[in-house]
Amino acid sequence: MQRIKKKLFFSIPILLILFSWSKGGTVFGCYETALAFKNTCNGAPYYAEDWNTFVTRDVTCNQMQICPVGSTGTAPNCTWKRKLCVTCSQQDGQLFMRIQSNGLPDHCVPGKVALQERVIDVKFRFDPPPVTFFQKPSNVDALNHMICDFDSSSESNLPSDSMFRNYGEKTISIINMVGIAANGVPMYNGNSPRNTDYFYPKDWAGSNQKNVDQDIDACLGAIQPEDGVYHYWFLPPCLYHADKIQTSKYCDNVTDCFTDMASYSKKIYTDFSNTWTLIGMAKDGHKIIGPYTAGNSEFDCQALDICNGIRDSSSGNYTYVAVTTFPYVVGCYGPGAYVTFNSVCSKNVCSFGSSLFNNLILFGLLAILMLHSFY
Ligand SMILES: *[C@@H]1O[C@H](CO)[C@@H](O)[C@H](O)[C@H]1NC(C)=O
Ligand SMILES: *[C@@H]1O[C@H](CO)[C@@H](O)[C@H](O)[C@H]1NC(C)=O
Ligand SMILES: *[C@@H]1O[C@H](CO)[C@@H](O)[C@H](O)[C@H]1NC(C)=O
Repeated sequence: MQRIKKKLFFSIPILLILFSWSKGGTVFGCYETALAFKNTCNGAPYYAEDWNTFVTRDVTCNQMQICPVGSTGTAPNCTWKRKLCVTCSQQDGQLFMRIQSNGLPDHCVPGKVALQERVIDVKFRFDPPPVTFFQKPSNVDALNHMICDFDSSSESNLPSDSMFRNYGEKTISIINMVGIAANGVPMYNGNSPRNTDYFYPKDWAGSNQKNVDQDIDACLGAIQPEDGVYHYWFLPPCLYHADKIQTSKYCDNVTDCFTDMASYSKKIYTDFSNTWTLIGMAKDGHKIIGPYTAGNSEFDCQALDICNGIRDSSSGNYTYVAVTTFPYVVGCYGPGAYVTFNSVCSKNVCSFGSSLFNNLILFGLLAILMLHSFY
């Protein structure tokens, strides 16, 4: 059984590549995705707004230790303005998405560092067909550097197919920003400056002794002390059901979060929205979706490639899946290979053990592919 399973595991990605390499995102798909963001502007999804005049939405929290810079009120009662506008445009026959956000969250955040409004303004091709790009590490060490390094998500590692442009502030630390969540909050990769998993670290030859001490809140985010930028690192439990989360507390002060962060963050998706959910967009132009499929079944982490992505066998679009095993959201800019070895910088990796469920998924995929090849 084990042998057969392994064979399938290798052949499926190859078949997927052969059958669905060339398609890319559609205008309708871009509009649909843009509208799934929690936009505050009137322009979405058609036209970008002037940064200084676009419509904002107020967020009020009565449990802040310190109010965000430029907000109104006196702690604990603060009101700040969110700005978010996600738009699509066509240029030279190519489809682009632009995300303009001031980065401020739509929920409370604990801590004594003040949140700061920033100009986040990025543009990239929407769902570009990955023609020239394929991440394939030849050994464990190469895989480790590819997905464990703190700066693995930097712009220099983006595929040129994405045509990524940063029109926003260049000074904010977006080196490990992998994308932007549906509420306009930046998402970082799951790596610490130590080049290990931030949450379940394991030292390896490429790790160092840098201090990784940052207070993670109950939304599994944190405020970057140097620039006041709020960001998520993990499948964010507060994206759609913040009202069910003690958003003004640190993770350590919430029993479920402290005990098992991974189950805690997934539980909110299991309990309230176990269907296809947009988590955000990655900087390379591909969608990041939640841990469930449109058919309410959970993605098996074994079905994801080394970058944490999966190729939709029918449409050919490549999508990242936010799961609760390392590398959590976007491990590298994919598509990537399927390998038999795991990265060594995390204690929380997807296990390669076989399960009936997993085999069923693989057989299902194979059946779909065979049908494809006959018609
Ligand atoms: C904050 O608001 C609450 C009502 O929501 C009020 O009772 C309290 O006095 C306010 N505190 C400050 C410092 O304004
Ligand atoms: C967390 O718990 C500690 C100890 O009980 C307390 O001092 C602190 O104020 C709490 N902070 C937050 C933000 O939850
Ligand atoms: C993938 O792309 C197709 C068009 O090629 C679109 O209809 C579909 O909704 C996309 N799938 C997802 C999951 O976005």
